[in-house]
Amino acid sequence: TGTSSFVVVANRLPVDRVVTADGRTTWRRSPGGLVTALAPVMRAYDGAWVGWTGTPDDAPDRFSTDDMDLVAVPLSAEDVAMYYEGFSNATLWPLYHDVIVSPEYHREWWDAYRKVNQRFAEAAAEVADEDAVVFIQDYQLQLVPQLLRRMRPDLKIGFFLHIPFPPTELFAQLPWRRQILEGLLGADLVGFQRTGAAGNFESLADHFTSATLAGDRLITEDGREVLARAFPISIEVEEVARLADDPEVKARAATIREEVGSPKYILLGVDRLDYTKGIGHRLKAFGELLRDGVITPEEAVLLQVATPSRERVEAYQTLRDEVELQVGRLNGDFGRIGTPAVHYLHSSYERAELVALLLAADVMVVTPLRDGMNLVAKEYVSARSDLRGALVLSEFAGAADELGDGAFLVNPHDIDGLKRTMMAAMRIEDAEAEQRMKLLRDHVISHDITRWARDFLTALRAI
Ligand code: G6P
Repeated sequence: TGTSSFVVVANRLPVDRVVTADGRTTWRRSPGGLVTALAPVMRAYDGAWVGWTGTPDDAPDRFSTDDMDLVAVPLSAEDVAMYYEGFSNATLWPLYHDVIVSPEYHREWWDAYRKVNQRFAEAAAEVADEDAVVFIQDYQLQLVPQLLRRMRPDLKIGFFLHIPFPPTELFAQLPWRRQILEGLLGADLVGFQRTGAAGNFESLADHFTSATLAGDRLITEDGREVLARAFPISIEVEEVARLADDPEVKARAATIREEVGSPKYILLGVDRLDYTKGIGHRLKAFGELLRDGVITPEEAVLLQVATPSRERVEAYQTLRDEVELQVGRLNGDFGRIGTPAVHYLHSSYERAELVALLLAADVMVVTPLRDGMNLVAKEYVSARSDLRGALVLSEFAGAADELGDGAFLVNPHDIDGLKRTMMAAMRIEDAEAEQRMKLLRDHVISHDITRWARDFLTALRAI
């Protein structure tokens, strides 16, 4: 087993192990934006990816699939319950997303988080070459930079947080705030989605640790420089564009339009089924437009893809019940035989089908209450070389910093504003749609994932 000069460390591998009914093992792309963004980077830099297979109790393993060298870190059922479902997704995830649901603080979860972070750090230390670059991802692994540096001071260590980083008064609630900040300070470069998040980190580290802020650098107790900066993440625009150009995908988009009854307007939402995504707000606004008679179900349908996510975490179970109740009500109140008002799909889709959906949509509705970036917005833009369609985008998504000029920005809490914005996006004139889509595409095409990776890794090597 060789070592690599470039190592990505993330909670999940880019593929999940799936065991079929007849006991065969297959692999499926892992959910979420992190994998969408990082998988092409990995292929370009030809390194090793350290992560979990998505199945509890898998043995440690090193294997290759999809042109990638993968190193599996095992998590027991208890690790999954306490480190992943617990501390990562019932403590940090809600805290970092503006406490949309209340974060839970449990000491046993924190212990599990530390223990599992140590395991990831050891796995990375083992596969990294002398002087290698190790690139650690996201909120599940914030202690790894420090733990890894202790074992391997020769490495260049980068960390990127894919989700928001909260302001002081929220972060300060965390009983382990100092330890997490010190964990991150083990990196040479700490990347965030937005400039404000980097600023939050700098002031928190200055305040709660022995590091001090000097100009644009943090200086640790032992004199090391740590740089915190925004690097808004992106996608492999080419991959989406290629699929969008494929005649089969185009034909499938036309079929989708027919299958939902050839309405004048198709509104589309594509999200992991997560309480940060504002799916309920979107449904409420759409329902009120139907109730008010501003639109009819023949005229406009909402297609909502909700990818199953973190299904054993209570807040996700509650959310699912709420969303499905709302969808049921809307269809009961406004649907007709053969014409539901909302097409709700609790499922994950292949890339080609996803792009066909993007092509079929007149209005892409992206309404998170808080979101690190939101790559679905960028996927929509990448698919629309026909310069048609409109993007409704929450101002609370990181993507709003970059796409504000071409998108219809909206505050999803303002239901009247959301209704007005959805109507404006539906009724947009072709010329304006083209002009907006051009602005959006200019930005996304020139700021794709290759540029993100190059910017981050260049900044890391320069330290
Ligand atoms: C977000 C997070 C990722 C995570 C993904 C899917 O994009 O930033 O770190 O992998 O959601 O969530 P899951 O819990 O299924 O890995």
